[in-house]
Amino acid sequence: MVKMFPNVRLRRLRNNHLIRDIVTEYKITPKNLILPLFVKEGLEKKQPVVSMPGVFQHSIDSLIEECHQAMELGIPGVILFGIPKKKDAVGSEAYNPKGIIPNAIRAIKKELGEKILVAGDVCLCEYTDHGHCAPIDGKRVLNDEGIKLYAKASLEYAKAGVDIVAPSDMMDGRVGAIRKILDENNFEDTIILSYAVKYASNFYGPFRDAAESGFAAGPKDRKSHQMDPANFTQAITEVELDIEEGADIIMVKPALPYLDVLHALSNRFNVPFAAFMVSGEYAMIMAAARNGWLDEQKCMLEALLAIRRAGATMILTYYAKKAAELIK
Ligand code: PBG
Ligand code: ZN
Repeated sequence: MVKMFPNVRLRRLRNNHLIRDIVTEYKITPKNLILPLFVKEGLEKKQPVVSMPGVFQHSIDSLIEECHQAMELGIPGVILFGIPKKKDAVGSEAYNPKGIIPNAIRAIKKELGEKILVAGDVCLCEYTDHGHCAPIDGKRVLNDEGIKLYAKASLEYAKAGVDIVAPSDMMDGRVGAIRKILDENNFEDTIILSYAVKYASNFYGPFRDAAESGFAAGPKDRKSHQMDPANFTQAITEVELDIEEGADIIMVKPALPYLDVLHALSNRFNVPFAAFMVSGEYAMIMAAARNGWLDEQKCMLEALLAIRRAGATMILTYYAKKAAELIK
């Protein structure tokens, strides 16, 4: 091989920690992290999620305790997922003004007010008895019925005081429908964090345990609306549509298997990007660490750094508290 730069010796920049620190390009801080939290209606005390060691389904009280801890660690926000007592075909509890998420939002805001950003994941799959993200008609998941209901849920979250609504359904037109209903009701300042580029991934497995959202009827996957892992080009269209419809922040999900997508999109669009390091990504590191095969702390920080490097300003991760503790 021809030596192009005969005087370059990269080891001169790596020989000790001071020189390594001074040439560092990327770092993670607690300010980049958002903590996902599950809250279940009617729980007396928190319950562990078996496939996600260290993650719990919370009662309202233990949820508030988590928010306090997150805030004290310098984490700016949490994202809430609700598990209702009653499920039905149209996910009524998702847009019940007295449902679990509006109640949780009010409780956190009463306690912490402006000290923490509260995001609400907007979808129906935790609320429907069939487990789909919208009403179904036999084999089909119904896009237009779904978006009306996401708009209703978003309005209830906004009325309860949410800072950010995060539609995670991947139906066409939902960001526009949500922006419209929020604006019509004087919630112009409510932020929309769109799960714009969400793949039909197998890495959501443990989440479906935590959120009790397995499939009981209809299709056995979400391929009719979530993206095909074999595609990139459609991701550009998804982002264009969501920005056009009023999304403030764009999310790519999962994170590690899709860093190429995150990198390409964040270079292309002038909006903040979020990445969701999902339940399966968390479970993989936890499982390997529990077997003594990987170093949990080092692998977690390396994974988060890689997601930052690929272009995410914010990372939704079940590791948020652990990472913030270590970084501090
Ligand atoms: C609901 C939703 C899912 C996740 C976030 N919101 C599951 C799904 O789409 O099946 C996954 C999060 C995770 O795996 O950590 N639509
Ligand atoms: Zn869903």
